[in-house]
Amino acid sequence: MPITAAEERAFYDNVYSRFLALPDEQLRVDRQVMLRTWNDPRQPQYERRRLYMAVMARLEAHLRPGLRVLDYGCGPADWGVWLATEGAEVTLLDLSPAAVELGVRRAGASGVTVRGEARDASDLSCFRDGEFDLVYASAAVHHTLKYPHAFAELVRVIRPGGVLLLAETYGNNPLLNGARKLRAAVQGEAEEQGEEIILGDAEIAQLRGAFASVQLHELHLLAMGKRLLRGKLHLAWARRLVEAAESLDASLLRALPSLRRYCGEVVIEAVR
Ligand SMILES: C[S@@+](CC[C@H](N)C(=O)[O-])C[C@H]1O[C@@H](n2cnc3c(N)ncnc32)[C@H](O)[C@@H]1O
Repeated sequence: MPITAAEERAFYDNVYSRFLALPDEQLRVDRQVMLRTWNDPRQPQYERRRLYMAVMARLEAHLRPGLRVLDYGCGPADWGVWLATEGAEVTLLDLSPAAVELGVRRAGASGVTVRGEARDASDLSCFRDGEFDLVYASAAVHHTLKYPHAFAELVRVIRPGGVLLLAETYGNNPLLNGARKLRAAVQGEAEEQGEEIILGDAEIAQLRGAFASVQLHELHLLAMGKRLLRGKLHLAWARRLVEAAESLDASLLRALPSLRRYCGEVVIEAVR
């Protein structure tokens, strides 16, 4: 049985409400805080640092004061709060009220203001058609697209010429997908973590049908082996292995671009 929105909300409320007890100092976000976290091998975000750096570069290419941004499925809202500190006019959206409360508090702790909307992405009637210049979703659309109307609503709130930017796990590689399912089963991962719904060709085709242009930036083929080293990346030998795989990937993907579709992570930029 597929999980319901209520189950997903309860799961993420439980995850995020724990952070609400933290002092403001630990909730503050800005560019420096994000870069420091990604580059710290003891932090879980280290594993995705190259994906995050690629996304940050794309977001920075669009940033200007007053840019109307929706952080879609914002979770702890690092991205939305960071963009607000860079002068964007940010709205946070998440199914989980705890996520939105956390994001609004983090914005306050970072010296900026954001709007927060706790609601299901399948009904965005609180937003006008074309209300946003840019919608950014980090590891979120693979949660929302399974809900009816969510895709149509996502497209509707982006202005013509506006941008949808996605950072996602990429799901065209059957070996990687099998390994992900196995790991989720072995580790008893909750279904709500969404590992079973992975963005791939079908969703890209859906995007191409609704947007004027869709560009993909695929990352990590052999370097997806980093998943096997989770919890060990604070060790120098483990980091060296991942770096070696990353540089092998760079040569391999340059020589054989057709392998890009089998990478494990992707940044997608679609212009409406
Ligand atoms: C894996 S988390 C990613 C959070 C954040 N974007 C990040 O990168 O850290 C997925 C988020 O999607 C949210 N979500 C799941 N289903 C949703 C829905 N139907 N509508 C809005 N948000 C949803 C969850 O509450 C959760 O915060």
